[in-house]
Amino acid sequence: MTATRLPAPDRNLALELVRVTEAAALAAAHWIGRGEKDAADGAAVEAMRKAFDTVAIDGTVVIGEGEMDEAPMLFIGEKVGCGGPAMDIAVDPLEGTSIAAKGAPNALAVVALAGRGCFLHAPDVYMEKIAVGPGLPEGIVGLDRSVRENLLSLAAAKACGVDELMVCVLERERHQDIIGACRDAGARITLIGEGDVAGVIAVAQPDSGIDLYLGSGGAPEGVLAAAALRCFGGQMQGKLVFENQAQIDRGRSMGITDPGRIYNVSDMAKGDVLFAATGITSGQMLGGVRFSGGRAVTHSLLTRSKSGTVRYVAAHHNLARR
Ligand code: FBP
Repeated sequence: MTATRLPAPDRNLALELVRVTEAAALAAAHWIGRGEKDAADGAAVEAMRKAFDTVAIDGTVVIGEGEMDEAPMLFIGEKVGCGGPAMDIAVDPLEGTSIAAKGAPNALAVVALAGRGCFLHAPDVYMEKIAVGPGLPEGIVGLDRSVRENLLSLAAAKACGVDELMVCVLERERHQDIIGACRDAGARITLIGEGDVAGVIAVAQPDSGIDLYLGSGGAPEGVLAAAALRCFGGQMQGKLVFENQAQIDRGRSMGITDPGRIYNVSDMAKGDVLFAATGITSGQMLGGVRFSGGRAVTHSLLTRSKSGTVRYVAAHHNLARR
């Protein structure tokens, strides 16, 4: 049997994607700390939508701002790009709307791109997530195991004590059991207020000090994080959390036939994936947007699953010429 070849994006598209995330970040950055998360999000969405107009793809948004009737731009199914190869797009123009509104760390503009049919079409429900970085035996942690079992397994693979492990968890009431189980097992915890795309990516960044990501967050953000880990390396599992029949029906209309399925990275993002992110507010991964004297500096990363190369781009923008 011959393997089906998935459509692959041109590697130069990665640089085009950075322009797209830079545009969203620059627009959102004007709203940092102003307490208006919708305005910040709206500015990022509009700028990202416009920036896509010059990208040479026949793009379809599969992870976006919502349904056509609830999102004026970058809605699921919207066509973007000025023509070229057929590609699917996953976007979060402002990942961390509350972060941006408060001026807290780690707000990002994020885009992933892959051939048609390569991303899981995730409905806007929660997803249970577990993630570890690269270089560990396949299946070292899993959503089908308890927190304690995962910590013991990870500590054994890393040849360290559980007390040396750092777990990143979104600080939410619904995570009290996870947090309690981590503490009972002796692990240390970094609680984050928002932004689990950055939280998951942290497991793949040696300097972050994060060994394990645990907890539920948005399913669309889960697909974006999986796209990133496909490029950075690392393992992640996600399981959609359906709270009622309407959500299950919605999932089914998007192609989710088994609501209890556990997805691995390549179930959520397969083929040759491009991922780009630009910092809006500063975080451990990327610096935020800095304005000064009619110019702005942005910090981005772009990466591609095929090569695994991660490029960091500091761009100095002349705002008068944009
Ligand atoms: P937004 O940018 O849409 O506000 O999402 C921020 C975020 O923290 C995500 O990173 C995360 O997946 C989700 O919200 C968690 O949802 P909740 O705040 O409902 O726990």
